[in-house]
Amino acid sequence: ACSSGSGSDEGSGDELISVGFSQLGAESGWRTANTESVQASLTEEAGFDLTFVDAQQKQENQIKALRDFIAQDVDVIAFSPVIETGWDEVIEEIKDAEIPLVLVDRTVDTTVEDPYVTWIGADFKQEGITAGEWVKENAPDAKIFELQGTMGSGAQVDREEGFDSVVGEENIVGKASGNFTRAEGKAAVEAALQAYPETNLIFAHNDDMGLGAIEAIEAAGKVPGVDIKIVTIDGVHDGLQALLDGKFNYVVECNPVFGDQIADAIKKVYAGEELPKETIVVDQAFESITQEELDARLY
Ligand code: AHR
Repeated sequence: ACSSGSGSDEGSGDELISVGFSQLGAESGWRTANTESVQASLTEEAGFDLTFVDAQQKQENQIKALRDFIAQDVDVIAFSPVIETGWDEVIEEIKDAEIPLVLVDRTVDTTVEDPYVTWIGADFKQEGITAGEWVKENAPDAKIFELQGTMGSGAQVDREEGFDSVVGEENIVGKASGNFTRAEGKAAVEAALQAYPETNLIFAHNDDMGLGAIEAIEAAGKVPGVDIKIVTIDGVHDGLQALLDGKFNYVVECNPVFGDQIADAIKKVYAGEELPKETIVVDQAFESITQEELDARLY
């Protein structure tokens, strides 16, 4: 981006920063809120010329988008990787093109040296630990079905590692992925209720899958939150509504509204300023919520 002569007049001071942003998909309420936050922060008024591409949860679409951004010679590339591995080649290409890379939300597992300038996202492992600690304290003998997110994604790998390290494998009767969507979460729980009828607690790696679990549990004639407890991560509006309704028992927040932090990081990266290697977005957790608190939330 620095020297190809593609029309960016660096130095005049008021030109827009061109940003290629590859969002991994639109799989969940969390993702929708994150996309809205990014688009609301990376506006022309704020100094950005944003190209935003949704990869529909497919790595090959993300790799293609990243290569398109290189071809466009954007000033900065930002992306949220759908899974952790498989990025070595394209990250090398971004480095060769001397385009700074900002990682958002999920993480990469790569052999490339110094693969990105900075990463902004949540501490997924801690989220899993927080969920596990609630279970250990409140349902120590629970028979747990773990509803995993997209396999191989940072959010799945780290939440599972954190949760399992606290509750112990012996309490987990089964696991399956619901790919972070409500429909696949529902289908996975329908199958789990057949395969593991002793299940009395579901740990879902996100709210959307937990909402799908509610549908499956009710269809089986059981009461979510009572016969089968549900613990989730995210804290999107529908998830916290389920907590208010007594259908979820505990929700660990994962805040998607950090577009302003991303915008700020991109400006600093563009200006060549030093940045921390990682910035953790702060989360809280909910055992209950009032209607007023729910109404006051941003997402
Ligand atoms: O990477 C963050 C996770 O991705 C969110 O918890 C989940 O809802 C989303 O799909």
